[in-house]
Amino acid sequence: REMGMMVIIYSSFLSVWDMTSLAVFGTGRIGGGVAARAVSSGLIDHLVLYDCNQALLEAQRLDIEHMRCPVSVSINPIDIAICDIVLYTAGLPRNQNIKTRAALLDCNVPVASELAALIPNYKGIIVVVTNPADILTYFLWKATRIPKSRIIGFGGQLDSARFQYELANRSIRCDGMILGEHGEHQVPIFSKTGLNVDIPIRDDILLTLRNASMEIIKGKGATEYAPVYHIWHLIESIIKDARTDLICSAILEGEYGFTGCSLGVPVVIGREGIISIQEWDLDTWENDHFHSAATFVSDLCRRISH
Ligand code: 2OP
Repeated sequence: REMGMMVIIYSSFLSVWDMTSLAVFGTGRIGGGVAARAVSSGLIDHLVLYDCNQALLEAQRLDIEHMRCPVSVSINPIDIAICDIVLYTAGLPRNQNIKTRAALLDCNVPVASELAALIPNYKGIIVVVTNPADILTYFLWKATRIPKSRIIGFGGQLDSARFQYELANRSIRCDGMILGEHGEHQVPIFSKTGLNVDIPIRDDILLTLRNASMEIIKGKGATEYAPVYHIWHLIESIIKDARTDLICSAILEGEYGFTGCSLGVPVVIGREGIISIQEWDLDTWENDHFHSAATFVSDLCRRISH
């Protein structure tokens, strides 16, 4: 009996501490920040860094090596394909002159294609951060042909955190969540807060949320700490098989009545990626905004798939 117990303890210990390899494709503020967080977490044993800017890549590599954490670091692009998780953050970031994230699509698709070419027959999980994240999530799903559960678009958690901040600013204490596009067509969900928030206030909060990132970009050039924090929470949920309820961009094949796009929806995240998509009942205002988001994102997904 004791031996049996020892075996259970040992195997559960291994399952918690199965080490993970992480590739970071794009080592700017976000990619570099998440790489440093991952290296100091004790949850990864191998890190691959990639950036087209060789000087930046070498600097980020050295800066991370000087942390002296027990993590092997590679900058060889062929090592990306053997990693358990690929974090995709490379591409032109949003700046003050780019009014919407969707406007980044044409210049960032070639970068996504470069990643897809490096990971043929990829067996791990891709986390997509580069904007427009929903459309690039769909593009990479098509380009890599990996199962839809293993490609996760980031943005909804960050938007939901901003929503909760705005609600708290208005003394509305609840866990507001945001579905839809990580962008102009984001959909704040009020109906699950148990509160009756009237339409003019909803519209005012949505307008504030649409401008939230630009307020930071104007002041410091890019958003950074909150994206890094929420991206790491997502990656940690994968590594630990935490089965966390998160809002992520997931490929829709009939969920919420839509196909042919990736949108921010409630999902459960674990070691295998997206374990399930939850379909919430939305009220009329939410449904109308979600439909607009799905239509907008689907049109762009269709355009880049041809
Ligand atoms: C953000 O929302 C720019 O998509 C980035 O912080």
